[in-house]
Amino acid sequence: MWILGITHPGSLNGAVSLVKDGKIIAAIEEERVSRIKRAAGLIPHNSIEFVLKKAGIVKEDIEKIAVGGTGLGDDFEKYRKAGIGSGLPRTFEASSSMHSRLSNNFLKYIQINFKNAEIVYVPHHLAHAASTCYVSGFDKSIFVTTDGRGDAESGLLGIFENDTFEVTKSMRIDESLGAMYRQFTQQLGWQPSLDEGKVMGLAPYGKPIPSMDDIAKVTPDQKIQIDWDKITSIKYSSNKTDPTKDERKDIAATAQNLLEKCVLALVKNLVETTGIDKICLAGGTALNIDMNGAILESGLVKDIFVQPAANDAGTALGAALYVHKQNSSKKIEPMKHAYLGPEFDDDEIEIDIKDSGLKYRKLSNVAEEVAELISQNKIIGWMQGRSEFGPRALGCRSLLANPTDMEMWKKVNVVKDREYWRPLAPSILEESMDEYFNNFGAKSPFMLLKFKVKEEKIPKIPAVVHVDGSARPQSVSGDTNQMYYDLIKKFEEIQGVPILMNTSLNLRGVPIVNNPQDALETLAFSKMDYMCIGNYLVSRN
Ligand SMILES: [Fe+2]
Repeated sequence: MWILGITHPGSLNGAVSLVKDGKIIAAIEEERVSRIKRAAGLIPHNSIEFVLKKAGIVKEDIEKIAVGGTGLGDDFEKYRKAGIGSGLPRTFEASSSMHSRLSNNFLKYIQINFKNAEIVYVPHHLAHAASTCYVSGFDKSIFVTTDGRGDAESGLLGIFENDTFEVTKSMRIDESLGAMYRQFTQQLGWQPSLDEGKVMGLAPYGKPIPSMDDIAKVTPDQKIQIDWDKITSIKYSSNKTDPTKDERKDIAATAQNLLEKCVLALVKNLVETTGIDKICLAGGTALNIDMNGAILESGLVKDIFVQPAANDAGTALGAALYVHKQNSSKKIEPMKHAYLGPEFDDDEIEIDIKDSGLKYRKLSNVAEEVAELISQNKIIGWMQGRSEFGPRALGCRSLLANPTDMEMWKKVNVVKDREYWRPLAPSILEESMDEYFNNFGAKSPFMLLKFKVKEEKIPKIPAVVHVDGSARPQSVSGDTNQMYYDLIKKFEEIQGVPILMNTSLNLRGVPIVNNPQDALETLAFSKMDYMCIGNYLVSRN
């Protein structure tokens, strides 16, 4: 059965997935194809076209449309009184009232285009939970989903066992940890729902402010209490331009500390009451790598899985997997990688390069020649294979540099037009993880966990170690990305470390590169040195 997963139009990120018999065929965020950042509220035409083409099917082949949300939001109280609210049924059929909650065009579009498909709405946070639990490879786990808000909830806690979800807590809107972090982002003068990564990156420069520790707490009966007035009244001296040198660093540290304190309290209770020591995470807040690392470091759990598309894009996948499970007992395979987007062969790539007029040559040994250039401190765009699902670049749409030279931290942030103090992450050969990080035996294929770098290794990779001695590594395996693995291996032969600096292949405010044309445009408008696309190396003239 072909199932098309689509984010609800009220989601922060538009995305689509295609699932057949429990297998994820393709998944992509609409912003990658439409080139409109987040593409929220848009009908994901381009993504739908891509996934159908990838599978070689047409719209009439789709039997189920799984929507990652119900649209129950503003009318929370009304629906709660009707028995739907905080005790949301875990799934339910579309009703006429829900239809009115959807953007009219979205629903019309589905009805007109997918004549053979039944529409199933999966509550937003259940879709987040499904996106992580079904593909974690764990038979049994606890789960936590948190974000600003999705439908009438801001998160779920519960137990996943025998492919079913038992919700132990639904977080109300006023308990929203995602909204709390978002409000801090706004207080710091940054754009909410976009710049939360800056708060996380700034936090290690500062110290939590003790007088603000009461802004958020978890009560003994597991309610989250947030003092919204106190957050919105936060003031700081703004006469300095560098946030690492004024009070903002401490406010950021406070936000991070409050988030971790609350999540750890919830997780501790859940672990103690269930006796389960594995956890699955999703929801936009699970993109907070430092929080995820803190959960593992706490020792409360032995293993952790974070959905790479933890943002709302992941609900397009989770909803489809949920609907699959409602209709089939067929097992869903663990998600070992996130390479679910489009790819381009050398012929297609060469046409676009020729068209661009940029200088290029075909490489006989891509890994060897690119590794050599990176060791010479060249900054390289790297576009290979299928693009990643989710906001992290994992070696298919990446910007790569030499981690052994401290100068590259600054240089890459300049190329990307990012603040100089924001950290950059390492990609490391999977087998070397334990050698470089205090990682509690964990891998980190999706670059969503923070670890302390072993002290003796810090001088070897200074450009990818943050000010608190931590890093946010991606572990790279030859099983899932042979080309990237080979590149890092070659770099190790030249430079002595099995690590590259890896950040996303895009410029400020622009979605990550999707196709060769996007990559060439990025090269032309940036100060990076080369772009390697497939077997071609392109330089600015
Ligand atoms: Fe969400």
